[in-house]
Amino acid sequence: MKIAIAGKGGVGKTTLAGILARLFGQDGYSVIAIDADPDMNLASAIGIKNAPTPIIEHKKLIEDRAGIKGGVYKLNPKVDDIVDKYSAEGPDNVKLLVMGAVKKGGTGCYCPEASFLRALIRHTVTKRDEIIVMDMEAGIEHLGRGIADSVDAMIVVVEPGKRAIETAERVKQLANDIGIKNVFAVGNKISSKDEEEFIQKSLSESGIPLLGVIPFDLGLIKSDREEIPILDLDPDSEVIKSIKSIKERLIVENRGN
Ligand SMILES: Nc1ncnc2c1ncn2[C@@H]1O[C@H](COP(=O)(O)OP(=O)(O)OP(=O)(O)O)[C@@H](O)[C@H]1O
Ligand SMILES: [Mg+2]
Repeated sequence: MKIAIAGKGGVGKTTLAGILARLFGQDGYSVIAIDADPDMNLASAIGIKNAPTPIIEHKKLIEDRAGIKGGVYKLNPKVDDIVDKYSAEGPDNVKLLVMGAVKKGGTGCYCPEASFLRALIRHTVTKRDEIIVMDMEAGIEHLGRGIADSVDAMIVVVEPGKRAIETAERVKQLANDIGIKNVFAVGNKISSKDEEEFIQKSLSESGIPLLGVIPFDLGLIKSDREEIPILDLDPDSEVIKSIKSIKERLIVENRGN
């Protein structure tokens, strides 16, 4: 299963990605978590204190593999050894790969760095046997850049608000445009039955299946402050229970496809 997690800024993408990756790991799967957000913080959500150096910062490596030769850079650089050499080992059998931020020059970047990251993500998602959980940049602008088009499901995280739902609708549209058929939603930061119903109703109107909802929980804010994943701080919390059930639902949905 190769999953990308998208949504509006601050909705809880990284929180869900980190917990989901570890829960799959606890089930006995090998997992690769990919931090594809230029504003990297998946390491702390997983509970990795020393995050690996972002791939993009290995300048020499990228130059050697994708660098300019006679005025052109390689479109298919060698990337098959990168996960094993440059990822960090996290808890619960989760390996973390941090992509880093490509400096954008003008419209669309055709630099070797961007080409290398795209090739690496595509290779990791299509050629590795592990479960992949990829934490994406907020919003939708990046979705056409070839970063997520090889995943087999996209989860859009939504808060109970009109704007998050609108973003989800745009994510679904763009995901479908780039060939991802399975787009699911997860409701997060739910603090009342009304909010849950709002999300259910809005998503059903948008035709986006809801995998489940995660309650608003101050424990997550404490976990963020103390830099201890909630999975370690409070493994029996409602947040963890709800994400376990989301994971089960995802497995069932995936089997059906
Ligand atoms: N269910 C929840 N209850 C309370 N706080 C939450 C919940 N989910 C996430 N948060 C908090 O909301 C903040 C944003 O969460 P997170 O970083 O996971 O969102 P994000 O979508 O990855 O943000 P960004 O767009 O900046 O990458 C964090 O402080 C996190 O602890
Ligand atoms: Mg994030």
